[in-house]
Amino acid sequence: MDIWKYYGVTHADHLIMNPLSSAKLDELVGLLPLQTGARMLDIACGKGELLIRVARNHEGTTGVGVDISPYEAPAAKRRVDEYGLEDRIEILEMGGADYDAAPGSLDLATCIGASWVWDGFQGTINAFKKIVKPGGLIAIGEPYKMQEPSAEYENAEPGMAANLVTHAENIGIAMAAGLTPLYSIASNQDDWDRYEGMQWRAAEIWAAENPDDPDVSELLERMRRDRAVYLRHGRDTLNWAIYLFRAPG
Ligand SMILES: C[S@@+](CC[C@H](N)C(=O)[O-])C[C@H]1O[C@@H](n2cnc3c(N)ncnc32)[C@H](O)[C@@H]1O
Repeated sequence: MDIWKYYGVTHADHLIMNPLSSAKLDELVGLLPLQTGARMLDIACGKGELLIRVARNHEGTTGVGVDISPYEAPAAKRRVDEYGLEDRIEILEMGGADYDAAPGSLDLATCIGASWVWDGFQGTINAFKKIVKPGGLIAIGEPYKMQEPSAEYENAEPGMAANLVTHAENIGIAMAAGLTPLYSIASNQDDWDRYEGMQWRAAEIWAAENPDDPDVSELLERMRRDRAVYLRHGRDTLNWAIYLFRAPG
């Protein structure tokens, strides 16, 4: 089935499409040291929740959100309109790597949960260092491993956890690239369970309401498999954080 449909259905009820709680996202947004009229770019913006919260909390901030999904980008546009922020936030439906930001043009560049756009955490840092102003802000949402994955987990999801580093190592990678850590905020088990459970719920409700959809059995099968891997392995092995850095001045 279409991959964007899978994520569109399973994340239909997520305004925040990552494992951080709403309260923690508010905390992070409140701590952003932004000047009035700051310019922000959010790559893989999902439903636009981060852009909307930053615009509502930081006077005069303007931003661009980029998302490749034909489910999420239109949803983000609708939500921006609902908040009356269409003159401050532009949403583009396109691949994140294809968005051409002018070098040194941004006060804040963010990518929360899609670092694969630049082949990972290091690649995202390299890309963002070029487009933020000297001393600008970079926020990246990235999983990290709490322990080494079991052989069983590796078989179930090859490379998933093995390719991750620890929380401290994520911050170390950024420091080695010249960034200054300003803050990090991690999920706890409730946050993760909510993020995962909302996917089970959305998929089961969608399947019950759309029994004739040709993708019902494939979608349920995939969600239930992902659920089993999360419960058996991911829940105790991985965690998630958003990291806030300042670029060199
Ligand atoms: C885990 S979700 C996070 C969404 C949002 N940042 C949030 O935290 O609510 C990942 C998002 O990345 C988007 N995405 C995946 N690949 C992308 C790409 N190559 N370019 C732009 N967006 C992409 C998906 O459509 C999805 O909205």
